Amino acid sequence: MGFIVAIDGPAGAGKSTVAKRVATELECTYLDTGAMYRSIALVAQRQGISPIDEASLVSLARITRISFSPLTPDGFQRVEVNSEEVTAEIRTPEVSQLTSKISSIGLVREVVLEQQRRIAYEAPAGVVLEGRDIGTVVFPYADLKIFLTAGEEERARRRYEELKAQGMDISFLAALEDQRERDRRDSEREVAPLRPAEDSVTVVTDGLTVSEVVERILSLCRERLALREQKHQSNQIERKDLLA
Ligand code: DC
Repeated sequence: MGFIVAIDGPAGAGKSTVAKRVATELECTYLDTGAMYRSIALVAQRQGISPIDEASLVSLARITRISFSPLTPDGFQRVEVNSEEVTAEIRTPEVSQLTSKISSIGLVREVVLEQQRRIAYEAPAGVVLEGRDIGTVVFPYADLKIFLTAGEEERARRRYEELKAQGMDISFLAALEDQRERDRRDSEREVAPLRPAEDSVTVVTDGLTVSEVVERILSLCRERLALREQKHQSNQIERKDLLA
């Protein structure tokens, strides 16, 4: 099993930017688990499936084929759903709200969880996963668990600027309200709510540059990789002793 880094945290904490850079530095696969839920939400929206129609949403999750291109050096990743590019479309505020609702359905999460584990098991060098429940549910034995967060207004400001840059007509207050609603839903849901894993390292990103955050996480990765290597070597010695 490759090296596993779990990066969880609320919307706007900077997870994507940081996780992509960490994955690139470690030459690992990057998995944006939010994009998987978003993709299912987009197809549900297009097909007019209600967010409370659980049975249809679970069937939809099972048949929806989501694929990711490798990361480019500048951090772009193309997302395809059933062979159609949806990279930008899954990021609209409407899809964000719908995703937050759909991702609270336990059976939908089970389907997505299986897919996440399969992708990680197939990643030769390891994987950096970002989401809400990676360290608590998907990979409770991850080599490193980070809970990345920032103050509410700082997160909303980043989100607002991101949406503005994409040409969306939205006010700061609307972005803040939208984020509050999603945060509430993501943290209060019964299944896999957003919370730091007990053994996670919390990194608060207010006032830090992306490079500072990435460097902090990379140095934790180096420590954990060295530990893993030590464990591996002592297992080898024990095996040899047993065989002797
Ligand atoms: O990280 P994001 O903003 O792309 O996530 C979109 C939504 O999906 C968000 O409301 C929380 C949900 N999500 C989740 O429930 N579990 C994950 N592992 C990732 C995202």
